[in-house]
Amino acid sequence: MLAKSLVPLALLMFPRPPGESPNSCLSFYGSSPTGKWSFYGTDDLDCVAAAASYGDSGALADAAHPPDTRLVWLESDVTAVDDSLRAAEAEVDVLSHLLASIKSSSSMALDGQQRILDGSEPREPVEAMYRDHSGSALLLRVDAALAPTLDTHLPRLWRSMLVPSSPAPFVPVPDAAIERVRTILKHVKFDPTVASLVNNISVPLLRADARWLTGEDSRSPIVSRHSFSSDTPKAAAWLVERFEETGATCRLAPFLTGFAPNVICAYPATTNTTETVLLSAHYDSRGSFGSTRAPGGDDDGSGTTALLGIARAIQRRGVRFAKNVQLCAFAGEEQGLLGSRAYARELREAGANLTLMVQADMLAYHKAGEPPQLGLPDLIGTPEVTQLVANLSAIYSPELNVGFTPACCSDHQSFHEQGFPSTQVFERAGPIADPMYHNSGDLTDREGYDFEQLKSIAKVQFATLLHSAGYEVPADEA
Ligand SMILES: *[C@@H]1O[C@H](CO)[C@@H](O)[C@H](O)[C@H]1NC(C)=O
Ligand SMILES: *[C@@H]1O[C@H](CO)[C@@H](O)[C@H](O)[C@H]1NC(C)=O
Ligand SMILES: *[C@@H]1O[C@H](CO)[C@@H](O)[C@H](O)[C@H]1NC(C)=O
Ligand SMILES: *[C@@H]1O[C@H](CO)[C@@H](O)[C@H](O)[C@H]1NC(C)=O
Ligand SMILES: [Zn+2]
Repeated sequence: MLAKSLVPLALLMFPRPPGESPNSCLSFYGSSPTGKWSFYGTDDLDCVAAAASYGDSGALADAAHPPDTRLVWLESDVTAVDDSLRAAEAEVDVLSHLLASIKSSSSMALDGQQRILDGSEPREPVEAMYRDHSGSALLLRVDAALAPTLDTHLPRLWRSMLVPSSPAPFVPVPDAAIERVRTILKHVKFDPTVASLVNNISVPLLRADARWLTGEDSRSPIVSRHSFSSDTPKAAAWLVERFEETGATCRLAPFLTGFAPNVICAYPATTNTTETVLLSAHYDSRGSFGSTRAPGGDDDGSGTTALLGIARAIQRRGVRFAKNVQLCAFAGEEQGLLGSRAYARELREAGANLTLMVQADMLAYHKAGEPPQLGLPDLIGTPEVTQLVANLSAIYSPELNVGFTPACCSDHQSFHEQGFPSTQVFERAGPIADPMYHNSGDLTDREGYDFEQLKSIAKVQFATLLHSAGYEVPADEA
């Protein structure tokens, strides 16, 4: 019968986006960081046998692993990036690359914490349990101490994810929730007060906030926002102060030992409702291969900065919302959406009433000569929420060229899997082209980093919030 224990007997991987299990004997464990693979667990051998007939070339792994190890999924991100980035990346055998990197850093320093790998370990720190036929996805068993920072040993077009250790049933978005978004969409029309409010987002303040997060501002104590860096909790504390200055109430929400916490901020509703509109970004980042220096100016300092820009405008103009509003900055995104998965699950278990959520991840970069853009997800998300964002963009940020992007999967995926209406905003109507993607050179002061585009996309996020949460402003601010 269905897995009661936390570790299933078998883990099955299918190349398909998150969705309901192909058979009720399989429990959904989550989907991969590209949204292309889904994981299921079962303790039932008949169920495993039946899975062989599902058609799409799934794979099976023995999920048993020593308690001091973790299962980690690796996947190439290559289809989500522009040719210019792909060309710069040498063909590598990811596993030998990984092992060489781990061994060469025989004493790897992470903020003074020394981890010594002296070669006397009884087993390899990393062992492949499954590799797909194209070589673009692998399941590994990894020493538990190493697993959370495995991303620092990966070529940058590879992403890693800690495989969830317990099932989280896939919940489709209920029809009533989609209907609610359709109703908002139906009533969208130009509102001069909304236009005035969204235009209040200040580019100089966006720049100042982003430069603080990257450490480009020499007064900032932040050098890295890797989830495991000791600077990242400093960034979290700073975010709490900034958001609270704007009238929000914030809490630091730890989700996994060793990781910086989520930052969850809320503005109360002026009406008696449980409905909540949520905007988010991830404030953790990832640096170059072999480095934990992760300034993350674009990924995802830009999305985090957009939230701050919106919060500052809320405060300056005295905006109050009819519904509850949350602004969330997640951590652990780069290790497999860990912070948002924990939070989305918590909201689902609490019976939260999310009207919609919009994740902002990488908003500021476009190639030289390209117009400002807004990319929307073609794979993961709720089409009605995506349509709402597109229509509000046409109204309030007509300077943006709107289109779809294959750059998939940020924290909205966690909400999508829990049945909350969700979408994502991204910097290009096409694949990732930022040459500093997953690079320690991801600063704001460089060609292609466009604060005007960042403001334009933040305006769309803010307009989505105002139109879906309802608002009031003091008479002289209208
Ligand atoms: C949203 O925009 C599309 C494309 O411009 C348009 O066809 C549609 O009527 C708009 N929907 C609403 C409800 O305004
Ligand atoms: C935002 O609104 C405030 C208060 O009305 C005003 O003082 C400020 O100049 C505005 N800023 C921008 C960038 O529009
Ligand atoms: C708010 O609404 C709930 C459910 O409709 C109701 O039980 C409660 O009394 C209301 N509270 C206030 C303060 O009106
Ligand atoms: C969610 O909000 C709607 C609208 O206020 C309300 O009708 C519904 O009962 C709420 N659902 C929950 C689970 O609170
Ligand atoms: Zn990101």
